[in-house]
Amino acid sequence: MNQLTAPDLFAPGLFEGTGFYETFAWYRAHDPVSWQQPPGAPEGFWSVTRYRDVVAVHRDSTRLSSTKGMRLDSDDPAVSAVANKMLIVSDPPDHTRMKRVFIQPFSHEVLGRAEEYVEQVVADVVAAALRRPEPDLITHLERIPTDVICAIMGLPRSDWEWIGKKTTEAFESPSEVRRITANGEIFKYFIDLVNENRKTAANDFISGLTARNHSGTELTDEELVFNLSGILAGGNETTRYTLASLTHQLAEHPEQWARIAGGKVDPAVATEEGLRWSVPGMHVMRTATEPVRVGEAEIAPGQRIVTWIGSANRDEEVFDDPDVFDVGRTGNRHLSFGAGRHACLGSRLARLEVTAYLRTLRSTVTSMTLEGEPRYNGSNFTWGLNALPVVLHP
Ligand code: HEM
Repeated sequence: MNQLTAPDLFAPGLFEGTGFYETFAWYRAHDPVSWQQPPGAPEGFWSVTRYRDVVAVHRDSTRLSSTKGMRLDSDDPAVSAVANKMLIVSDPPDHTRMKRVFIQPFSHEVLGRAEEYVEQVVADVVAAALRRPEPDLITHLERIPTDVICAIMGLPRSDWEWIGKKTTEAFESPSEVRRITANGEIFKYFIDLVNENRKTAANDFISGLTARNHSGTELTDEELVFNLSGILAGGNETTRYTLASLTHQLAEHPEQWARIAGGKVDPAVATEEGLRWSVPGMHVMRTATEPVRVGEAEIAPGQRIVTWIGSANRDEEVFDDPDVFDVGRTGNRHLSFGAGRHACLGSRLARLEVTAYLRTLRSTVTSMTLEGEPRYNGSNFTWGLNALPVVLHP
């Protein structure tokens, strides 16, 4: 890549492949905190590419706010409607109050009890993929995050398929009308569930969130419903993209699969490399409320800052041979779950799912083969594979 000319972060199709890693490497080396003006956008933003600067931005929630949206192309009216009511677009003190409640069901102790049915869901999905190989393995993999979260939330089994379909539609439908409609239907579903639970207290997950046992914290109905939808959304595509990326890499690197299959590498260790490599959360955005210095750049109040997690995860200052997929990588301090107060609520659950998947593959699959071209979704936000022609062999 030409050393003098800054590469275009908004080149059409950049995120339809993996060429953006070279672009990020250029910025890390030559202009680590750069000013970017996307074509056609009313305002530019500061683009942060080095690991240490990314961490500093994520940790500074006092001067860098999430309430103006946490992604480029955020829809302002939609964000204002949920700001300080939904974790991901909230600042303290509301963020602190809500996170205290929502972190409980995703804590180490509570999830320890969920491990058994995470394993059951994964075993069912892998068994189905072995029994009925589809041209696209994602048709099977997508059931893992949806079925697991529906089980954790105690939703009736008969609703799971509908929830899976609506969640996919709400985030991935090419039609904006269908996306909005599906989101509305999910909100309505949770409103009804919360109302019903007030009468019956039949749903332990919801009852746990509404109980006044979290240091006296009580959530409003809006906060409950927005965050239930946020949890559903947060763990769906992201976890699926990590599962898909790992499978893709293992199919392309049979020697890495052999290390896991042969017991040389612990699936929990390989999970971390799968997370570093897949980067389902490609960028995160904040807006400065006070002057802040990031690297060499002086950020003014009101300006937006974007951290590229995909770049931080390949920073040569932190990772040895960052462009090598190494399932046995140790000291793997990837930032795929973010950092600081907004660090992913579901990181432990996602890790459980991915590790259970690798363990199940190890006990039921001998090899996996790539039977066509995988396809990336092209997004610079929730990035990942949306077509994966891989066949698992028993
Ligand atoms: C591989 C899977 C996942 C990845 C890569 C991922 C990534 C992330 C990242 C980068 C953030 C930080 C956003 C920010 O700083 O603004 C985040 C936050 C969040 N994630 Fe995840 N996530 C994953 C799975 C899940 C799961 C399974 C759940 C559901 C339990 C979930 C729910 C959330 C929620 C609710 C937040 C907001 C937390 C807050 O603002 O305090 N995520 N996730």
